[in-house]
Amino acid sequence: MAPISMTSFLRNLPKVTIVLAGVTVLFLMYFRSFPSPRCHPSPKWATGHTNKSLVETSPSTIAATKKPNKPIVLLWFWPDDKQFDFQLCKDLNINSCQLTDDRSLYSVAKAVVIFHKAIKDDLSNLPTTPRPKFQRWIWFNMDPPTNTRKIPGIESVFNLTLNYRRDADISARWQLTSKKQIDKEYELPEKDLLVCWIANASYLNTSTEASYSYYRELAKHIKVNIFDSFSAKNLKGENYFLTISKCKFFLSFEDSVHPDYITETFNGPLSAGTVPIALGPPRKNYETYFPSTSFIHINDFPDAFALAEYLLKMDEDNAAYMEYFQWRRFYNVRRHFNEENQEFAHAVCQACRHIALTKEFRVVRDLYKWYLI
Ligand SMILES: *[C@@H]1O[C@H](CO)[C@@H](O)[C@H](O)[C@H]1NC(C)=O
Ligand SMILES: *[C@@H]1O[C@H](CO)[C@@H](O)[C@H](O)[C@H]1NC(C)=O
Ligand SMILES: *[C@@H]1O[C@H](CO)[C@@H](O)[C@H](O)[C@H]1NC(C)=O
Ligand SMILES: *[C@@H]1O[C@H](CO)[C@@H](O)[C@H](O)[C@H]1NC(C)=O
Repeated sequence: MAPISMTSFLRNLPKVTIVLAGVTVLFLMYFRSFPSPRCHPSPKWATGHTNKSLVETSPSTIAATKKPNKPIVLLWFWPDDKQFDFQLCKDLNINSCQLTDDRSLYSVAKAVVIFHKAIKDDLSNLPTTPRPKFQRWIWFNMDPPTNTRKIPGIESVFNLTLNYRRDADISARWQLTSKKQIDKEYELPEKDLLVCWIANASYLNTSTEASYSYYRELAKHIKVNIFDSFSAKNLKGENYFLTISKCKFFLSFEDSVHPDYITETFNGPLSAGTVPIALGPPRKNYETYFPSTSFIHINDFPDAFALAEYLLKMDEDNAAYMEYFQWRRFYNVRRHFNEENQEFAHAVCQACRHIALTKEFRVVRDLYKWYLI
């Protein structure tokens, strides 16, 4: 190969210079068009201020005025009329959609969340304007099949399901997360009660529900401290977790038994540092969500008497009792939202996240065939 001669280089020098200059100009234009991430303009109202706390709040203000095109998710009914603050989703690190209850945004909403129980039998309170092509309707129901009324005419109007079940399109459950590092031994909250239950005190002697029948058997052999769900309005928020943290064991009895129907009555004690005693779907079902050593299942014992005997033994054997908390070195558990009006917030936030992440086209062909059988 012949080396490039000096003369041919000199002959091409003007061309090379022009090309280089062009590239430089283009580069500068490109570079200038991006604001430096570290140097955003101050919001108008902050100009002239030197107050540090004002300046520090500016990035979120800018994000809000710039309105990145987050999908709009419209909550059609407030579930059970419980209005909550959509900002709660931020506590769950969900900030990827714009949640609203403003029905005038219907035509631009990417999704409409429709609470099953609130739908009228004649469907007259569903949206009446035609559904935009891009819009998905989300069937929202957290009640188990036995408490879900069959409303004719909505079998195939939905695109997604939002429910506690694992096979729902959007499965709304409080889940454990893995810890990044193995943690030290769990520090148990102070305890002064052995077994506790939150139940309707006026039903205790009479209710024929499985949970109450089991309780009555158990209470023959061991003291169960009852917190009355009917009168005890103070069992909300922080007070709820504090109260049950004082018990070594808690009756996490579901009021009806269905696959995946494992509710806050289980998550409550688990997150408060108390051992749940499960009555609900089979142990195997619980184990798909929670470590097998984190709870007791009533079916681990032939009868209530045997369970009572075991609990009394555990009361004397702290080392064995502490084994129920080993999982905490590996997993984080979250306290669920527990204020009265927050009951449905977590599920609605999950819908928000899902809509921001997926765009798939789908029709729920037969809602009741999926849910009620
Ligand atoms: C800055 O503003 C905050 C909030 O308005 C106020 O509480 C604070 O005292 C101000 N600090 C100064 C140094 O002006
Ligand atoms: C508890 O019992 C009372 C009286 O029987 C009843 O009115 C009330 O609805 C029950 N509460 C719950 C939460 O079931
Ligand atoms: C329920 O039964 C227990 C023991 O049999 C009794 O002491 C209590 O008064 C009864 N409670 C009600 C509300 O009837
Ligand atoms: C949503 O479901 C409806 C009713 O079945 C269907 O007509 C529509 O095409 C679906 N839309 C999307 C985006 O999946």
